[in-house]
Amino acid sequence: MNDEHYYDREQSQVKHRILERYLQAFAPIIGSRYHEIVYVDCMAGPWETRDAHLSDTSFHKALSVFRECKRRGRCNRVRALLIENDPEKYPLLEAYGKKVKDIEVVTEPWDFNEHVQDIVDFAKQSKNSFPFFFIDPTGWSEARINRIRPILQTVPGEVLINFMSFWVKRFLDDPRKPFGELLGKDVDRLRSLQGDELDDELVNAYAARVREEGNFSYTCAIPILMPDRDVIHYHLVYGTRDFKGLEEFKRTEADAIPYMHELRAMAQRRHDQESSAQGFLLSPSETYRERRFRDLNQRRKANARAAVIRLLTSKKSTTYRDVYQEAMQYATVIEGDLRQWLHEWQSTGFIRYENWSKGQKVPHADTIVITLGALS
Ligand SMILES: C[S@@+](CC[C@H](N)C(=O)[O-])C[C@H]1O[C@@H](n2cnc3c(N)ncnc32)[C@H](O)[C@@H]1O
Repeated sequence: MNDEHYYDREQSQVKHRILERYLQAFAPIIGSRYHEIVYVDCMAGPWETRDAHLSDTSFHKALSVFRECKRRGRCNRVRALLIENDPEKYPLLEAYGKKVKDIEVVTEPWDFNEHVQDIVDFAKQSKNSFPFFFIDPTGWSEARINRIRPILQTVPGEVLINFMSFWVKRFLDDPRKPFGELLGKDVDRLRSLQGDELDDELVNAYAARVREEGNFSYTCAIPILMPDRDVIHYHLVYGTRDFKGLEEFKRTEADAIPYMHELRAMAQRRHDQESSAQGFLLSPSETYRERRFRDLNQRRKANARAAVIRLLTSKKSTTYRDVYQEAMQYATVIEGDLRQWLHEWQSTGFIRYENWSKGQKVPHADTIVITLGALS
């Protein structure tokens, strides 16, 4: 965890952990259903790397996951397209790609803005393949819906997009910037918001557009905080058409959130040690300072709980799968939260389960939830 390559850019360490953890689940599942996985890193870097072997880059993390999956015989063929338009960085990417022998890697010095259709064509080169697109720009402009629409509409396929909310917030009031193409018709309403409400609504608006334009069944967003400031730097927005994808991404989120807090606590301790000669009796997690995430998590949990109550009240009888998918689309809400609410409602007689089999410990997707009274 304590990796010096990521000092003062711990947000990238969290981003890479999310990518890696999700692909570890994705690769064997997709590998069992499709002949080929296509991985596209639309803005690959290397970006702010400190390791001569480029181990602290998104493409290295992703290719390592696919390599291991192939080694274990859990997927057949993997093709990867890695794109970087910076003429100083591209040669490093190209040299890295040439050394990879066990995965078909193509590198291109493309400007993403001019090659979206080429990217889709690459993904669709062979039948029976499933592409995963990682769109990770330095600003917000490349993530505009009109720019990425052909990628969103590639079926089958999934996307992970870095939504640079910090920069969007900073420039939102500038009428010359084309925010309508990012956020839709709602821009004027969004411009009237402030603080936490603006944070929440910006990413909600963007994720909703990704879902609609890509006809995705689910989108989720994980907030990534700056390491040294109590500020959301960006959100990783994920889109899938598959319930299994939703489950695995939420498991990834449940893993990544405590990881992010631990990294931030260690970064804070490092900075405290640099500015003070005194020793520290308490551990970094005991002195960890943070408000932004906690507040966001409380808001999201309240929203998700209210949505689940509405669902259970309107239906009287529903499946755990329906309840799960309702709750899990709220950022930072994890399955443990949902199970806790259901347990509380079950023990106070507001709900009961049907078709609960002997020895079953937790609700399954097809477990039926019956609403017995007014929930609160
Ligand atoms: C935030 S970095 C991400 C790097 C990589 N995904 C990672 O996590 O290790 C964004 C990279 O995209 C490149 N980039 C920015 N705009 C681009 C564009 N229009 N086309 C291709 N690459 C671009 C930048 O030079 C930079 O290396």
